[in-house]
Amino acid sequence: MEAGSTKQITVVEHLLLHQKKSPAATGKFTQLLYDLILAAKLITRSVNKAGLLDVLGGTGEVNVQGENVQKLDEYANQVLIHRLERSGALCLMASEENPEPISIPSHLPKGDYILVFDPLDGSSNIDVNINVGTIFSIMRRKSASTSEVNPNELLQPGYQQVAAGYFLYGPSTMMVYSTGQGVHGFTLDPSVGEFLLSHPNMTIPNSGAIYSVNEGNHAYWDAPTRRIVESFKAHDNPQKKPYSTRYVGSLVADFHRTLQYGGVFMYPLDHKNPEAPRGKLRLLCEASPLAFLAEQAGGAASSGTGRILEIVPEKLHQRVPLYIGAKADVAFAEAQLRQG
Ligand code: AHG
Ligand code: MN
Ligand code: MN
Repeated sequence: MEAGSTKQITVVEHLLLHQKKSPAATGKFTQLLYDLILAAKLITRSVNKAGLLDVLGGTGEVNVQGENVQKLDEYANQVLIHRLERSGALCLMASEENPEPISIPSHLPKGDYILVFDPLDGSSNIDVNINVGTIFSIMRRKSASTSEVNPNELLQPGYQQVAAGYFLYGPSTMMVYSTGQGVHGFTLDPSVGEFLLSHPNMTIPNSGAIYSVNEGNHAYWDAPTRRIVESFKAHDNPQKKPYSTRYVGSLVADFHRTLQYGGVFMYPLDHKNPEAPRGKLRLLCEASPLAFLAEQAGGAASSGTGRILEIVPEKLHQRVPLYIGAKADVAFAEAQLRQG
């Protein structure tokens, strides 16, 4: 980007320019995004200085997912809850780190939006200075705003999301979001403290030849999953040539690469627990928001048996297998799984 350009667009300006003009618009959605951005800037500040502050390592606690809570998980979670409960735009929130939905304290103003988030994705990477992120999903309540919201209103299928996106805390901090009108990426310019449009209209190329999976789980995979990965390494795949492997282990980072370079990211079902085979990733705070972005970018997202965005969640912390990326690669994986 040209230094000192007078034509740079901030994310809030972009939102105001592109959102559907409605006479009923209250400005609450813009406020919600503004507060999310402020929370992300605060998280960026701590992530950037992680080695210098006392924020590395675990808290000694295990969260509802059965995973070790990192100090930065807890910090990011608290920052998001504190900022967003004051936005006036929300009636309900849910976080990967909280077992139950989070209600808005009665003394604070409310709105009609519901926010679900993964405060710090990839947090096992933070101690070794590898990219982490924050993922968010925004829905609208279905019931009238005059009544108390039912926590089950969180359980909406992904196609009903009003907006979704993520912040990537990498060499630079980025925000990528969609309100259903394409996917747009912004880079934080730390010198002015603003996210500036750097990646308008992002689309997933169909020609990428990268597969991304934790192959250390091979021993726990079923036959079709093994076949899919073998095919990506050989010639019988959509590109008709062996793919490269890339795997960061931070979903936001792996997705961000897939969004720009194409190919496929997968976290398939595995049999680590033979009594309860399952996918690892969370439907509401990970798979669904990224599926919304993937489809908006011309790609696809599947559980292996169907479109992620059509799954009606049964519970807040439901997990799901995920195949996400270029349409051809996702369709290829689905076809293999159908064959069994
Ligand atoms: P989180 O840090 O929010 O718990 O998410 C971790 C997730 C995701 O970021 C990543 O794709 C996946 O876990 C990696 O899992 P493996 O270590 O099993 O590969
Ligand atoms: Mn995560
Ligand atoms: Mn997390």
